[in-house]
Formats: sequence, structure tokens, C-alpha cells
Amino acid sequence: MGCYRHPRAALLATAVILIAFPFAAVAADPPLPGLHWFAPVLAGGGYCSEANALLHGLKSLPPGEAPPLRVTHHGDAIDYFFYSGLPEDYARELDSMLTARQPRARDSVIVCHSEPGAWAPAKYETARCPPEGYGRRHAVRVIGRTMFETDRLDREHVARCNKMDEVWVPTRWSAEVFERCGVDPRKIRVVPEAVDVTMFDPARFEGREMSLAHVGERVVGPRLDGEDGYVGAGATRTIKFLSVFKWEARKAPDVLLDAYFSEFTAEDDVALFLRCNLYHESDPRAIHKRVRDAARTAFRSGKSGSLWGAPKGTRVDDAVARFAPRVFVLPAVSEEGVPAMYAGADALVLPSRGEGWGRPHVEAMAMGLALVATNWSGPTEFMTEDNSYPVAVEPDLVPLPPDSHFATHMWSQPSVGHLRARMREVASDPEKASAKGTRARRDMVTRFSPAAVARLVVGELGRIAREDAGGERGDDATGARDEL
Ligand SMILES: *[C@@H]1O[C@H](CO)[C@@H](O)[C@H](O)[C@H]1NC(C)=O
Repeated sequence: MGCYRHPRAALLATAVILIAFPFAAVAADPPLPGLHWFAPVLAGGGYCSEANALLHGLKSLPPGEAPPLRVTHHGDAIDYFFYSGLPEDYARELDSMLTARQPRARDSVIVCHSEPGAWAPAKYETARCPPEGYGRRHAVRVIGRTMFETDRLDREHVARCNKMDEVWVPTRWSAEVFERCGVDPRKIRVVPEAVDVTMFDPARFEGREMSLAHVGERVVGPRLDGEDGYVGAGATRTIKFLSVFKWEARKAPDVLLDAYFSEFTAEDDVALFLRCNLYHESDPRAIHKRVRDAARTAFRSGKSGSLWGAPKGTRVDDAVARFAPRVFVLPAVSEEGVPAMYAGADALVLPSRGEGWGRPHVEAMAMGLALVATNWSGPTEFMTEDNSYPVAVEPDLVPLPPDSHFATHMWSQPSVGHLRARMREVASDPEKASAKGTRARRDMVTRFSPAAVARLVVGELGRIAREDAGGERGDDATGARDEL
């Protein structure tokens, strides 16, 4: 494990909170500060969908409970494909927040919600956060909302976090990593991510789920019953595994395909559907090639050609086309199409090596899918044996690829053997998988709906207002913010 521990500082911080809190709590509630939220709300991607779900929650609180809210796009660049694909009412609500009146500087809590490199002084062109003029006594708090997906935090990110008044991370796992790496534990708060349980609601799609075999293109394995869009023929019901990811080491596509090609054959009534992005690649069929290559490699590494039950002497391309378990590649879908895509699947499979949180995970769970995902990092905040299929990790962490910007960091290695076992569980007991999905939906609605997480944020604002009313705010935090 990287970084070093200082448990005494944590104990001290806990003691300070325990002593200070009862006195602050007895006073009448002071008014909530305003909220100016800077986030990549127009960029697509993880931070974006997280921010949008939470902001939607804040907007839908009853008027008396909601703080004055202004949003500014910040961090990653604007993605017009994302913005134009937003459902109309969401786009309208977002526009209203982006043009809302700015709460007065000295009454505002500023949230810089992005990777720390975007915080002022930013390492690239972006809206300044905190904005100019928000130094000493000109904002109630400046908060960094961030996360990371490896076992440690860079020195520079630690320094940037420590310049903030508070750092909000989504998971206890992140809190532990940030603290171990030197972020002041008194600044760290765990505020989970929200998932839009209204947009991601299976009830909206009953009877009109996307037929994945129809929209996708089969690249490995023989033809599937119902591939032409006619689903429901015959006595069997194909188990549809979906995986959604950017093709990179972190998402472990090698582990997914290794497990799938080792565990199943064309005889199994299963199919794997891949919705992948591949950056810096101009060939739209690059994913198809990678999947076929992985199938060929799997076949060649099989003992004496017996893999997938293919007769001895079967040529590799023949085996991939006729005996391998089916894999389909799905085209890009708009934001509006994403929930319909989940609705067409039985399970989401994501053996990532590390996640800050796990956006597709919670979206799929909200849609009532069975989630099969690595039991390490962000997803440990919400995955249990009751609501999903956690996949065990190998005992030792592994380094990131040598060409990674964070090559000195480590993350997990999901167990191929256990991933195989968990996918097999889904395929052989669909009732149990569906029961876990039902439980997953319930957990998402209770714990991570936009309204539930918005109330947690309002609770944090209340705590801040009480702390300031009690005059217990340390001068060091105010002074440090001046350097931003
Ligand atoms: C998942 O992680 C938790 C906490 O480390 C552990 O107790 C549990 O046994 C793990 N489950 C699996 C399937 O590895």
C-alpha cells in the first residue's frame, strides 16, 4: 500500500468533532448558505452524470429546503453530442441552473467538482474554481469534490486537496486512501454519488426493452435465436450479459473476455453485448477486431483444440464463428437510449481494476439488473451479496500499465476464476439474479436517489452554517484558501 498512515490524527479529528458537535446542535438552525457548484455538467462522462443527478436532486427539493443554487461548467471540455442527446426537460433544467443568479460571494459555499488538476490554478483552460475574488472572508467554504481509482493519491493532488477547506469524496474507501496519503482528515467528508432512479427505472421500459441482438452486430459465435429482433421464440430464454466501458486497462476487457471465453461455449444460451469507446482510434471497427482477436487467442491457448467442444482439427476462424460463445458489439447510443439499453440486458458485467465510484454499476442496479463487478474500490460502497455479485480480487494489487500517467500507483487484479463462477451463477439461476436486481433497485432508490443525496448535501450545508454560527471555524482554513 502506498502513502503512510497517521491514525493519531484521525483519532484527534474524531475527538474534536465529538466535543464540538453537541454545542453547535443545540443552537437554532442558522440559514443555509447559497451553493455555487462548478462541475463538467456538459462534458458527458463520470463526473458529469454524477453532478447532473445530484443537481437534479437539489432542484427537485421543496422550495423551503433547497439552497439558492448556481451551476457553472468547469473541468472537462463540453461535449455537444452529450448535450444534444439530453432529454429535453433535463436540458431545460440544466440551462436554468447555468443561468441562475449567482448567490452573493460571501454567503456562498463553492464546490469545485472535478479532478484536482482543474482547480485554480488549473493545469488547462477551464472556468476558474474557486472564482476570482473568493479569497479570505469572501466565501463560506471552498470544497473540492473529487475521487480517484487507484490505491493512492499523487503528492500534487494531496497538496491541492489540502488547499481546500473541505474535500468531499463519494466512498469510505476513498476517504481511507486520501487520509493515508496525507489529506488532512479533518477536511474529508463522505458524500455519496446520486443515481437518477427516475430516468433509470425499469418500469418505464416494460414491454419495450431494446432488443440488443437486433441493434448489435454479432462478431463471435453462431447466429442467435431472435437475432432479427424477434425475441421470445422457443422455450429457452437467452441470458444477456452487458458490459459498458472505455476500452482501457482499468476496465479489464482482457479479464472479461478471458473469463467469458473460458466459461461458456455456443451451446450455452448466453450472449455478451459490448458497448465500448475506444479513444485515439479512427477505425470504427477496431472493437470488433479486438474481440475477434481475443476469441482467436482463447481458442489457440485451449488444450489440443478441444475448446468450446469444437472437433479436433477445427480451424481457428471456424471455431470462432461456430463454437465460441456469442459476442455482440453495440453501436453508440444517446443519453436517452442508455436506460433502454440496460433494460434489454439481464446482467451488467464489469471486472474493473479500480473505480472512483462506478457509474454504470449504479445505473444498472437502478434498472434492476444483476451486477457482476469487482469487489474493490468505489463499488464496495454499495455492492453486497444481497444486491449483486461481488467478484473477488487476487491477494496482491498490481501496478498500472507502464505508459500510464500514474504508473507508480497500484490497483486490483480481479480473479478470472471467480468472475467465471459468478457469471455461471447468473446463467444457471436467472431467478436468483433477478431477485438480486430487484434488491439492487430498492437499495439505489433508498440510499442514492437524487433526493436522498441532495438531502445529505443540504445536511452538510446545515452543518457548515452551524459551525460558522458557533464561531468554531479555524483560521488556518481561511488563510489557506487565500493562496488559491
Ligand atoms: C468483498 O470485500 C469484503 C470486504 O473486504 C469481504 O468481506 C468480502 O468477503 C468480499 N467478497 C468477495 C466475494 O470477495
